[in-house]
Amino acid sequence: MPKTPPNLTGPQIREQFLNFYAQRQHRILPSASLVPEDPTVLLTIAGMLPFKPIFLGQRPAPCDRATTSQKCIRTNDIENVGRTARHHTFFEMLGNFSFGDYFKKEAIAWAWELSTEVFNLPPERLIPSVFREDDEAFAIWRDEIGIPEHRIQRMDEADNFWVSGPTGPCGPCSEIYYDFHPEQGDAVIDLEDDTRFIEFYNLVFMQYNRDSDGNLTPLAKQNIDTGLGLERMAQILQKVPNNYETDLILPIIQTAAQVAGLDYFKANETTQVSLKVIGDHVRAVVHMISDGITASNTDRGYVLRRLIRRVVRHGRLIGIEGAFMNRVAEAAIALAESAYPQVRERQGVIFAELEREEAQFLKTLSRGEKLVAEILAQNPTQITGSEAFTLYDTYGFPLELTEEIATEQGITVDIAGFEAEMAQQRDRARASHTTIDLTIQASLDQLAQALHPTEFSGYSQLQAPAEVVALLQAGKTIATASPGDTVQILLDTTPFYGESGGQIGDRGYLNGEDSLIAISDVQREGGMFIHYGQVERGMVKVGDRLTATIDRTCRRRVQANHSATHLLQAALKLIVDPTIGQAGSLVDFERLRFDFNLNRAVTKTELEQIEAQINQWITEAHPAEVEVMPIAAAKAKGAVAMFGEKYGDEVRVIDFPGVSMELCGGTHVSNTAEIGAFKIISETGISAGVRRIEAVAGPAILDYLAVRDRVVRELGDRFKAQPEEVVERVDKLQTDLKAAQKELEALKGELAILKSDQLITEAETVGEFRLLVAHLGDLDPKSLQTAAERLQQKLGESAVVLASTPEPDKVSLVAAFSPAIYQGKKLQAGKFIGGIAKLCGGGGGGRPNLAQAGGRDASQLPAALAAAKAQLLAALTS
Ligand code: ALA
Repeated sequence: MPKTPPNLTGPQIREQFLNFYAQRQHRILPSASLVPEDPTVLLTIAGMLPFKPIFLGQRPAPCDRATTSQKCIRTNDIENVGRTARHHTFFEMLGNFSFGDYFKKEAIAWAWELSTEVFNLPPERLIPSVFREDDEAFAIWRDEIGIPEHRIQRMDEADNFWVSGPTGPCGPCSEIYYDFHPEQGDAVIDLEDDTRFIEFYNLVFMQYNRDSDGNLTPLAKQNIDTGLGLERMAQILQKVPNNYETDLILPIIQTAAQVAGLDYFKANETTQVSLKVIGDHVRAVVHMISDGITASNTDRGYVLRRLIRRVVRHGRLIGIEGAFMNRVAEAAIALAESAYPQVRERQGVIFAELEREEAQFLKTLSRGEKLVAEILAQNPTQITGSEAFTLYDTYGFPLELTEEIATEQGITVDIAGFEAEMAQQRDRARASHTTIDLTIQASLDQLAQALHPTEFSGYSQLQAPAEVVALLQAGKTIATASPGDTVQILLDTTPFYGESGGQIGDRGYLNGEDSLIAISDVQREGGMFIHYGQVERGMVKVGDRLTATIDRTCRRRVQANHSATHLLQAALKLIVDPTIGQAGSLVDFERLRFDFNLNRAVTKTELEQIEAQINQWITEAHPAEVEVMPIAAAKAKGAVAMFGEKYGDEVRVIDFPGVSMELCGGTHVSNTAEIGAFKIISETGISAGVRRIEAVAGPAILDYLAVRDRVVRELGDRFKAQPEEVVERVDKLQTDLKAAQKELEALKGELAILKSDQLITEAETVGEFRLLVAHLGDLDPKSLQTAAERLQQKLGESAVVLASTPEPDKVSLVAAFSPAIYQGKKLQAGKFIGGIAKLCGGGGGGRPNLAQAGGRDASQLPAALAAAKAQLLAALTS
């Protein structure tokens, strides 16, 4: 009987894989976050990544065998997404892992059994590959599994030697391919032919560590790392032509098609590609935001922004107008929630982030699209580097997007030109900012390979003996340091908290018999704690045994602020909105800052309630219960995860029972009473949909109050009032000041008018008329008019033209004519002054005897006044 593969759903495939290995003594572990602990990669790219420190022997294994379904994101093939049958950004990798336990033989036998007995794939449709030199794996396939020799393919290093990055654990691998067209026979087996074959299972025999020079050193143990692509197995078992049409993605595509009023199956190829891109990317962005990533212009934030923008752009390409992101995101959340309940829990945060990014991008997109249309209207053969840069810099068009548009039009983009513009901008930026010293990173990376992660003892100890395991200066390792040197020190174990989870690093001292180093900051890189400090006394060298002592006062201040942050999150959920999620936080010695998603400002009353609630929790003296427990237990208890789950079998839960329970690695008070008091300083919006509360708690509150108190006292002294009377005093002073200002204005006007009387002597006599054209400084328009009227009356039959510049860019003009002028000479003040004002870039007019006008160009005033005089002379003498 030929085997018939079952038509399994995506979730069934996931479940059967994990159960198969669970029955073979593998512990099922949860997926780690997409944000890796490993600093060498931006995102979790494979199922093995969370286990890297275990493979490298830097961390003990939680068990001998494990199996996971791991969320992964790879962006190196982003251009192929939607265009081939099986490229993705987001995908799920099913894996079985051996930490120095079983090796090749079991890994191959189980992979075969799973493929042919559980997924029931016909053996004649399966082709294994091995690394060219791996005779051992070849023999296992031939002798133990019984595959004819000619069907086992030997592949070279590029295909069958797997490395987790430029450096890191690696080894030869063996892959299993599925043959869609066995009828084409065994004569030619070309595994690169992806119309015929798909690689679905990769077994890595992890036994080396590769350094940055490419040298391989054997690992202490022989390990197994495997990856089976969930989407690929779904494609095979569901008998669909590509991964996108499996039940893991199709519902998202169909939602997008529905929004666009299309039928995916009837759409043309270009439209199908766009729908597939949307289907793929929306899964990625939903999980990324759920794991705490927010869109930005750097690192993973940029990956997220780029993916969101590609979704929006492809939505436009298939005719969707306006916002649609959240409808497709909802479809992705509904698909993911049974395996990853966190996405549903974080849906508020996901929707807010997507809505904001989409709205912002739609705005820039439509402005940028106008520019693109203008560029394309010239029928160019290329979009220039500077045009691409303007699109990027001013309109937020990623270069890839400009390239995509260019490709659609059959033209190119001058990438080199674009890069030159970018480099120039970087230089400009460098001139105004100090840059991060990348050499520190490089050197620390090397150290990270060689050293064990620092052991942190600071939850229970404030002082501990430690050994200097590395000493660096300006990023380079050094042998010894002397007084005055600024150094970075790595210890084997430390009570100093290294900055993470928003809490800043501890301060304190390291001292040896004759040496003393003041530590001002501690940062984490991977698993290492880097103590930044200055040698104050004696010599320091690698191998020194020191006593590490943290500054208790600073620690007390920071932990009061940290615990208060937990209470703040609890109070916000209680008083404002239970779906509020954290978007960032900072906890230092002076204050705390908590960012969260909310589409409106928190009202003054709510802020008062929050403050009162937190102070009540403080006075109620709730003890803290800190417990390390399996993640599932923590979630079952209802703990709030701050930034998506960090990987690990076990998590640390900070519980103030009945008040707040969060997963957190920070240091905390042992009882809320230790916080003392809590005060909100401000509530502001930091971007659309994200609010920020700044507050103080604990000992820092005294500093804050002392400053306030000093200010109030000083004000009281100056105003000769009691503190509580200050507001009233200030009100009264403001009223008095306004009245005084008004009076002053009036006096100034009167004075100017009096001064203007002196101008009478400057009036010229023209026949029977008097003529006066003059500039009166910065007199205000109203006083100018009064002055003109008054002068004209004093001068009898006369024409008076006055000008002033009350503000640098403001010209004021007035003409006052006596009846003999506007009746006898038919010279209308309104028309006349309007013509003069025009010369100063303005206009105006009024009655025949009196008119006022204004202009903006004061530099033309002398010429305008000369013209006025000339015109009047001509009119009066005719
Ligand atoms: N780590 C291997 C891969 O990602 C299984 O293909």
